[in-house]
Amino acid sequence: MPDFPYARLRRRPDVEAANLQAYDATDALLVGRALESGVPGHEIAVIGDAYGAITLPLTDAGLTGIRVHQDLATGRRALALNAEELGLAGFSPHELDGSLLDGARLVLLQLPKALAELEEIADAVARWAAADVVLVAGGRVKHMTLAQNDVLGRSFARVQPQRAERKSRLIVATEPRAVPAQPPYPVRAHHEGLVLVAHGGAFAGAKLDIGTRVLLDVLAELPGSSPASVRTVVDLGCGTGALAVSAAIAHAGARVVATDRSAAAVASARATAEANGLADRIEVTHDDAGSRIPDASVDVVLLNPPFHLGSSVHTGAATRLFEAAARMLRPGGELLTVFNSALAYRPELTALIGPTEQLRRTPKFTVTRSIRR
Ligand SMILES: C[S@@+](CC[C@H](N)C(=O)[O-])C[C@H]1O[C@@H](n2cnc3c(N)ncnc32)[C@H](O)[C@@H]1O
Repeated sequence: MPDFPYARLRRRPDVEAANLQAYDATDALLVGRALESGVPGHEIAVIGDAYGAITLPLTDAGLTGIRVHQDLATGRRALALNAEELGLAGFSPHELDGSLLDGARLVLLQLPKALAELEEIADAVARWAAADVVLVAGGRVKHMTLAQNDVLGRSFARVQPQRAERKSRLIVATEPRAVPAQPPYPVRAHHEGLVLVAHGGAFAGAKLDIGTRVLLDVLAELPGSSPASVRTVVDLGCGTGALAVSAAIAHAGARVVATDRSAAAVASARATAEANGLADRIEVTHDDAGSRIPDASVDVVLLNPPFHLGSSVHTGAATRLFEAAARMLRPGGELLTVFNSALAYRPELTALIGPTEQLRRTPKFTVTRSIRR
């Protein structure tokens, strides 16, 4: 393990709990590999650094000019805060684009969960990095699959899994293949009255999630508030933006804000708004739990909350979004939410927001409306 105070790294503003760490053995393996390689910092790109446990040990070892892409707004903030606390600099944040990868000779990647996200990243590295780039991708053995090697193999001629160490494994991909003229993402799909556009990392891809569909059905049948009284609608955790699009159509006079902590979701929701001819009606923001939306300024919040946090099932992520909805709703404003029926969020919604009624319950999903007290 490189000599670095990993235990001082924190996850905030992401959920912090005794069973949730800000680093894992994969981070240390990736750092060790980079330090051995002798590649200078300005030729290194880091992708998927959760809270800084890859980037900061490298800058601590004296490397500078490291380019970093993190999907989550929370991860970006945590990296900045951890860097500040440890007095470290020497890196710059980037989106997943040419500015991140141009001329990169070493790319360090924490493997994403979704194969689509990996496919988009592998294509980006093959497309933009140097011809002799070495992509080192790592993960926890229990979360790794052979399909990941296959996906890497579409963009790289050589894919070499390494021996597992401390329950983590690195895969080294080299010899980038010629890339297709069009990147594989974003993809798009048509649903009744709606086009969804999705980057690899967006929840549910270009499909309409079944929970989202149940919420949309309920919204379509609601007698509804008069459009004039609904001036601001927020799609909180917007993913590809299906709820935002339906809100913009249902409330022609309202301002719609779609917000997500994932950059892939934000890029997808922007493209979805555009594909539905609603780019001028929907404002899309990359933010943690809509933190930049003023208190008590919103009439309606639409929410299909996450219930998986990384790979551990943890409902803290949904609670943060309920609290955010409570903060941004004006008194009398409404939160409409859909969740897995097994989760029984109603008492929590009543405590955090206000009186909560069940609008629909299927064996799988429950839709509720909470009125801000
Ligand atoms: C279950 S998906 C729903 C996506 C979309 N609203 C839909 O219905 O298809 C939950 C979304 O919440 C986002 N999310 C989770 N925690 C968040 C947070 N703290 N702030 C903003 N977005 C968050 C995730 O990135 C994901 O896109």
